[in-house]
Amino acid sequence: MEDENFIIDFTEIAKTSLSYRAYGGANGVKKGIYFNKEPYMLKISNRNKKNLYTSSIISEYVCSKIFSFLDIPTQEVILGTIQDNDKEKWCVACKDFKEKGEYLYEFLSIKNSFFKENSNGSGTELSEILETIKEQKFCNPEEVKERFWDMFIVDSYLGNFDRHNGNWGFLVNEETGKKRIAPIYDCGSCLFAAATDDDLQSFLIDKNKINERVFTFPTSAIKENGIKINYYNYLTQTNNPDCLKSLEKITKKIRTKENIINNFILNLPVSNVRKKFYITILKERKEKILEYAL
Ligand SMILES: Nc1ncnc2c1ncn2[C@@H]1O[C@H](COP(=O)(O)OP(=O)(O)OP(=O)(O)O)[C@@H](O)[C@H]1O
Ligand SMILES: [Mg+2]
Repeated sequence: MEDENFIIDFTEIAKTSLSYRAYGGANGVKKGIYFNKEPYMLKISNRNKKNLYTSSIISEYVCSKIFSFLDIPTQEVILGTIQDNDKEKWCVACKDFKEKGEYLYEFLSIKNSFFKENSNGSGTELSEILETIKEQKFCNPEEVKERFWDMFIVDSYLGNFDRHNGNWGFLVNEETGKKRIAPIYDCGSCLFAAATDDDLQSFLIDKNKINERVFTFPTSAIKENGIKINYYNYLTQTNNPDCLKSLEKITKKIRTKENIINNFILNLPVSNVRKKFYITILKERKEKILEYAL
């Protein structure tokens, strides 16, 4: 039994231990708090367009953990609840990874400084991203390229549709001049976060619906020729040697960590349907996308 999934009640902490930090992003309420004397960003569960609460908080928690099980530097996360107008909501505390003197520069702002005609920092055309990685002077381009492709492969596994240029970046310490690639953050759009338990149940009993969620949905936020990349098509057709190197490395890693990932999921405080769906879709995506593309 993992004791990793303990849940903290953040209600009082969110009232009494606010930090002076604030966070951007477009998907819901975030509070800067102190927990155990360290700064965290508390993300609180949010409704979708149909006014239903999404599972983005659970996805943030689960997928940040999966990235770290795969030995990729990732934000530390703690799952919690918060009382809001008599309603108990999920929240996830993401430890603020900025050390003293450090600023986060999202990849978007780096890309802005290489502005070219018909393009800008938020444009996610793959060729432009790779060109910016090569040209930027913040971190070693080879290391950045490796992180980018490792992240792309794990995002393919987790079904992330939102790795836009604001959802990864660099940390720069202006006092010391030290620069590093930021740990992975914002995994809230992985593992079909918008689906309810009823939706997940309907997927589990219909092979076609599972296959659609392997071969068709979701697409990546990254584009080729203006069209969002389909993970299956891209990985089974690409000749990019950096991508193929990460594919091999990460798939091998997933195989060695699969038991840890599955045990972690089985111990989550979520419904059995959700646990079963997570285990099923991760197995399917590993076999039918990653292993098939090898
Ligand atoms: N662990 C962290 N430590 C420090 N800063 C963070 C951390 N996680 C996120 N941030 C910053 O806060 C911003 C908002 O967080 P996040 O991306 O998780 O929110 P979001 O609303 O889901 O974003 P989006 O608009 O991409 O959906 C990020 O773009 C990043 O600048
Ligand atoms: Mg974000």
